[in-house]
Amino acid sequence: MASQLMLLFLFLFQETVIQKAIPCLNHTIKGIASRDIFLDGCFKIADLGCGSSRNTLLVASNIIDIVIEVCKENNHKPPQFQVCLNDLFGNDFNNLFKLLPEFYAKLKREKGENVGPCIVSAVPGSFYGRLFPDKSLHLVHSSFSVHWLSQVREIA
Ligand SMILES: C[S@@+](CC[C@H](N)C(=O)[O-])C[C@H]1O[C@@H](n2cnc3c(N)ncnc32)[C@H](O)[C@@H]1O
Ligand SMILES: *[C@@H]1O[C@H](CO)[C@@H](O)[C@H](O)[C@H]1NC(C)=O
Repeated sequence: MASQLMLLFLFLFQETVIQKAIPCLNHTIKGIASRDIFLDGCFKIADLGCGSSRNTLLVASNIIDIVIEVCKENNHKPPQFQVCLNDLFGNDFNNLFKLLPEFYAKLKREKGENVGPCIVSAVPGSFYGRLFPDKSLHLVHSSFSVHWLSQVREIA
């Protein structure tokens, strides 16, 4: 019981941190928009150390909301989205996949047919190694992970 409460507290705390990052994401995404990146067609996002709770998809949904808002401001058509969720090999990606139908349905319900598609995939592995090909992402997000030192960086 006590440990379940602790876990709940941790999730709520992490959620608060994710929501507090919205103004910063807003600022960053505006900066990207000025380089006309959304005209590319597909906006590619990575979340490093994504975890496997509902908070993971909250990050994706916040980013998508902001991109759509910024596109509206700039009279751009919203891009397609590719969301790459990264965490260690042992992460419970199955739990995330089970949350996807609801995530996709909500996106459709709230944004309509004009937005999307949004395609979510998993990229298992450590972010201390290579996860993506060169120049394949527009935005990399990480919350509560980089300090989670699963590996201490070697000092050269
Ligand atoms: C505290 S959780 C945060 C989860 C989520 N980002 C959030 O804010 O709710 C930290 C996550 O980082 C992941 N992680 C730690 N070291 C990692 C590494 N080297 N590569 C990828 N993921 C890592 C852990 O597996 C864990 O899921
Ligand atoms: C992003 O910033 C603009 C002001 O530059 C503001 O109008 C808008 O509400 C902000 N959006 C979010 C999601 O915070």
